[in-house]
Amino acid sequence: MDTRISTSRGLQGAVIVPGDKSISHRALMISALADGTSEIHGLLDAADPGSTLHCLRKLGVDVEKVDTALRVKGRGLHGLRAPMNVLDAGNSGTTIRLLTGILAGQPFPSTITGDESLRQRPMKRIIEPLSLMGARIEGTASQTAPLKVNGTFPLRAINHRMHISSAQVKSAILFAGLFADGTTRVSELVPTRDHTERMLGLTRVKSADSYAVEVIGGTGIQPQQFQVPGDISSAAFLIAAALLVPQSELRILNVGLNPTRTRILDFFRSVGGSVEIIRETTVAGEPIGDLLVKSSLLQGGIELQGKQVAELIDEIPVLAVTLALSGCSLTVHGASDLRNKESDRIRSLVLNLRKLGLDVEEYADGFAFQGKNTLLPAECDSFEDHRIAMAFGVAGLVLKGETVIKQSECVDISFPSFWHLLSSIERR
Ligand code: S3P
Repeated sequence: MDTRISTSRGLQGAVIVPGDKSISHRALMISALADGTSEIHGLLDAADPGSTLHCLRKLGVDVEKVDTALRVKGRGLHGLRAPMNVLDAGNSGTTIRLLTGILAGQPFPSTITGDESLRQRPMKRIIEPLSLMGARIEGTASQTAPLKVNGTFPLRAINHRMHISSAQVKSAILFAGLFADGTTRVSELVPTRDHTERMLGLTRVKSADSYAVEVIGGTGIQPQQFQVPGDISSAAFLIAAALLVPQSELRILNVGLNPTRTRILDFFRSVGGSVEIIRETTVAGEPIGDLLVKSSLLQGGIELQGKQVAELIDEIPVLAVTLALSGCSLTVHGASDLRNKESDRIRSLVLNLRKLGLDVEEYADGFAFQGKNTLLPAECDSFEDHRIAMAFGVAGLVLKGETVIKQSECVDISFPSFWHLLSSIERR
């Protein structure tokens, strides 16, 4: 499907963004392992959490919809059933990596795979630590999916220092740690999103040079009432749109404001963006709030190195488009892992920005440009990557003329209502 976007006259209203993708995956997995029935409210109803749900059902977990909530009958740490066939994680890196952590501690073998894009993404990062814990995981020759997981119980507890910044890897090890014979410790140099540790109630330890978290093997999980906040990574597209389009004033309600996710707000503000938090509370251990965003004159520039990249990993496409269109500069280094996302996001960004008429330098680990406010509409490829499609959809609201986003249905991965929502907030 192609989506055509025309220049906007202003965005207004109050919107709710879909549930947080990271928290949705974790709520499903934690509920599946709990000793009793959990309820999940506000679960993201999109393809990625759908993949997690599908895999959990194949592992014997009963899930039913009750009104707007999902009721998940947990099977306890030791109650998952051997799947009859291959588990399909679809397009979802979080599903395959976190679930492999759980499968590693099961007394049965299983195989997990995904779509063409997922089958190209690196899995060595989880194969290595989970193998140190005693699981035998076989991928392809290039250490990609399908992964044959020969689980072992109990696994060996490890003290693991992460050499890449990845919440998915950290979480895979923490989930595996539930099935280990002692205390597993994971430390990271830059604190990545900490939803797994919050939702499992794990102990965090800060040392001089790292952030660590520990999980004690065998600790049972109590069933919970999960309330999933709106996804700030999805909200980021609407924030960018309201900042860029003149005559805009948008309220975005119930957005998750976990400090490991909010760096994007600091960066928008650092170039003059008006983004205010107008009400903040804590729900189910996660800070949430309403945002008020007004069109702003953006100016200046941003330089990102590895540390900031890790704190902003999913927002770089939308930040890049925002800065490119408002004449700001951006230099990104230390971001080679962006090449391992749903698409090679460095390549996707560089190619699409060049199509709009921008000079962009591409590096192995990043890119750089000086933005211009004279860019022109073009036909942009989504590279079947939801965040690339939405980032250039935002660009289309500002460019003078009609912008086309190819294969725009890929927004279904995290934000199925995105195109509809954009047109519903258009000032009439
Ligand atoms: C996620 C972690 C990040 C992020 C992804 C979701 C998670 O991936 O890009 O969208 O839920 O843990 P990495 O761990 O590969 O950086």
